[in-house]
Amino acid sequence: MIIPTFKEAPNVAPLLAKLEAALQGVVWQAIFVDDNSPDGTAAVVKAIAATDPRVICLHRIGRRGLAGAVIEGAMASAAPFVAVIDGDMQHDETVLPRMLKALQADRADLAVGSRYTEEAEGRVAGLSARRESGSRFATWLGQRVLRLDLSDPMSGFFMIRRELVEKAAPRLATDGFKVLFDLASVLDPPPRVVEFAYEFRSREHGESKLDGRVVAHYLSLLGSKLSRDVLSPRALLFGLVGLSGVAVNVAVAYAVRGMTGPDTAQLIGAVVAMTSNYLINNAVTYRDKRKRGFGLLAGYLRFGLLCSIGFAANVAVASLVFQVIPEPWVGVVAGAGVGAAWNYVTTSLAVW
Ligand code: GDD
Ligand code: MN
Repeated sequence: MIIPTFKEAPNVAPLLAKLEAALQGVVWQAIFVDDNSPDGTAAVVKAIAATDPRVICLHRIGRRGLAGAVIEGAMASAAPFVAVIDGDMQHDETVLPRMLKALQADRADLAVGSRYTEEAEGRVAGLSARRESGSRFATWLGQRVLRLDLSDPMSGFFMIRRELVEKAAPRLATDGFKVLFDLASVLDPPPRVVEFAYEFRSREHGESKLDGRVVAHYLSLLGSKLSRDVLSPRALLFGLVGLSGVAVNVAVAYAVRGMTGPDTAQLIGAVVAMTSNYLINNAVTYRDKRKRGFGLLAGYLRFGLLCSIGFAANVAVASLVFQVIPEPWVGVVAGAGVGAAWNYVTTSLAVW
C-alpha cells in the first residue's frame, strides 16, 4: 500500500489499525510517502516502523506533490500489486481485499474505488455541495478525454499491477492530484478496469490540500492530453496565465486612462499585467520551483526583460503578417503566439 501524507500525524495510527483489521490473512506492506510535513507525520510513522517491519516511511525533503509521492512510493515497492490510499481515512479500506481478489484472479489490471458508479452510487459524505458539483464536473471532463470509461477518474483510491506503474512511470506528471487519471491515459493498451463503489468518508483530523491550484493543474493536464501531449501542462498553464494578463492589461489601462492619457495608461497596464503574470506563474505554474525573497526579485527582473523582448517580437510578427494577410486578427493571433512561445521557452530556461 502506498499512503501519501502531508500533515496527517493524528491519522497514522488509526489508519494502520483499520488496515490491519481489513487485511487479515493478506501479506501487506504500508509505504508512507511524506513530504516532510511540519506536524511531524514522518516521525509518527517511523516510531511505528521501528517495531513493525511492514511499515516504511519514505521521507522526502524539499519536494511537494501528491502524484510524485504516489509514483515514488509505488516504485519503491516490490509487491506484485500496489494499492494507493489516502492517509486521512476518507477511503474505505474494507474494499481492499475485493480489489486484491479481482487482480489476483486476473479479472482486471486496475481496481478503482469509485465515489460514483451507476449501479451502486458511491456516496460522498466528505465533500461540500460546491466541492461535489465541482468534482462531478471534473469527472465528466475527464471522461471526455480518457478513452477509458472510469466513473471516478479522479479517485485517489485504487490498486494496480506494479509492472504497469513501472511501464507508465517515465510519462507520468509528478505534480498535481490526478495520478490515476494520468496513469489510465498513459497506458497503452488501456488497462482492464474494475470499479468498486464506496462511501467517501468525512475527514476527522486535519484538512484537505486540494485547492484552486490543484484544480488549475488538473485542467492543464486535461488540456495537455487533448493536445495529445504536444503542449505540456506547464505550457498550457503559462498560456492561461498569459490570457489573464491580457485581461489585466486592458482593465488597468482602461481604469487609469482618464488620469494619464492613453500611452501612459497602456504602459502602466502592461507593467501591472507583467507583474501579475510573474506572480501567478511563480505561485501556480512553477509552484514546485517557487521563488522567494531575493530570488523572487531577481527572477522578476529577468522575467520583465525577456517578456519585453517577447512583446517586441509579438508586435514585429503581427505587422509582418499583416503585410501579407491584410486581416488584422490573423496578425494579432500570430504575433501573440510567437510572443507567448518566446516568453514560455526563455523564462522556463532563465527564470525558473
Ligand atoms: N506526500 C504528499 N505530498 N501527500 C500529499 C500531498 C503532497 O503534496 N498533498 C496531499 N497529500 C496527501 C494527504 O495527506 C492525503 O493523505 C491524500 O494525499 C489526499 O489529500 P487530501 O488533501 O485529503 O485530498 P482530498 O480528500 O481533498 O481529495 C480526495 O479527492 C480527490 C479527488 O477530488 C482524495 O481522494 C484525492 O486522492 C482525490 O484525487
Ligand atoms: Mn482527504
